[in-house]
Amino acid sequence: MPSLVVIGAQWGDEGKGKLVDYLTSNADVVARFQGGNNAGHTLVVDGVKTKLSLVPSGILRPNTRCVIGAGVVVDPEVLLNEIRMLQEAGVDVNPSRLVLDRNAHLILDYHRLIDQAREDARGDRKIGTTRSGIGPAYEDRASRTGIRLAELNSMEELREKLAENMKQRNLYLARVLESELQANFEEQWAKLERVRSVILPYIGNASLLLYNALEHEEKVVFEGAQGTLLDQTFGTFPYVTSSNTIAGAVSTGCGIGPGSIDHVLGVAKAYTTRVGQGPFPTELRDQVGQYLAEKGAEFGTVTGRQRRCGWFDAVAMRRAVRLSGVNALAITKLDVLCGLEKIKICIKYKLNGQELEDVPALASELEKVEPEYIEFDGWQDTLEGVTKWHHLPVNARFYLSTISEIIGCPVTIVSFGAERESTIFSSGASYVKNFVK
Ligand code: IMP
Repeated sequence: MPSLVVIGAQWGDEGKGKLVDYLTSNADVVARFQGGNNAGHTLVVDGVKTKLSLVPSGILRPNTRCVIGAGVVVDPEVLLNEIRMLQEAGVDVNPSRLVLDRNAHLILDYHRLIDQAREDARGDRKIGTTRSGIGPAYEDRASRTGIRLAELNSMEELREKLAENMKQRNLYLARVLESELQANFEEQWAKLERVRSVILPYIGNASLLLYNALEHEEKVVFEGAQGTLLDQTFGTFPYVTSSNTIAGAVSTGCGIGPGSIDHVLGVAKAYTTRVGQGPFPTELRDQVGQYLAEKGAEFGTVTGRQRRCGWFDAVAMRRAVRLSGVNALAITKLDVLCGLEKIKICIKYKLNGQELEDVPALASELEKVEPEYIEFDGWQDTLEGVTKWHHLPVNARFYLSTISEIIGCPVTIVSFGAERESTIFSSGASYVKNFVK
């Protein structure tokens, strides 16, 4: 049962989509296990860009089946648009290739409105969410009032439940949040009827499908969304998303036993970015930060916001490796560092003069930590056309091997461009190579 989990090891946007697309040329199944359309995965194949936020990145591989696990929150209209966009682009999307778990919860209009109204009401204390209703939808799941995909099978009961939910959520919007935003029942109902006819055939038992696939030794890739530092429990709370993003979430999000996870690949940029509010110890608020943002085209796929940029943070990375049992790291966007004279890695946090063992739990403390850096000479040579690890500039290789050493985890993949070809493996990448033709 070869299975590979791909997770983000930073604050999201690490390039997981590109890697999952690359690592699925020989995979049988690709499954999403958490998050929703707050994710934005950009794939570039033969110069053509495809932006996905819900459908797993394996969809562009004709022989790969895709699964949206029960742990994902599904905005049905976003899903419908994504299916249509892919079909119009000639991608074969049909119920034998895409299965949505019947236990996954829906994101409805009132979730989006609550997300927006709360963010507006918070003023300076905003989380900086994607405003797509992710948090409110997970809240409804936890409070047992959420609506699952399976419920689209019994519209009469659903109508009653939706009316009750909407009444309560509209009261909450008006009375508690003092917002003028209100969800409209008939509009929401019409939307549900419209999407239902298309998505019903895609709804199935994804947990059973994955169990059978793993039993039959099929190659399964679990595709994480967001990143470790946005994990609801272990991230930089409260500036986090509302799902668990670490590898353990594969089990609860897809309904498979934890023993089914064979290998965890952590994906990290060669530097760090963060979108939205919250502490960011290695943030560069200078010209170098601007250089990274511009050269790295650091603008959010979902919201278009400019991402904050900073140096690679080995303290946070050690934590990410520990939390998910990461076996190997893929470093992306190495090309963005080309041309810098000096490059830094944060190796320690100090707070009030004391060295910390781990990332502190309180955002207010993380705001105050003093990062300590080691400095490297940069490299000027472009990485274009590099096809072998030993062709990388010597300073780039030294940078990567230092990361491996200080984190205690091998860097086995490096990526330096959006195209599939701009990806190379080290000699230690034998496990992940099973997933590539
Ligand atoms: P939410 O997931 O929309 O509730 O947003 C919560 C936090 O997670 C905000 O800081 C968002 O910017 C961040 N976030 C959510 N999804 C992503 C992503 O895919 N990449 C990067 N940041 C994300």
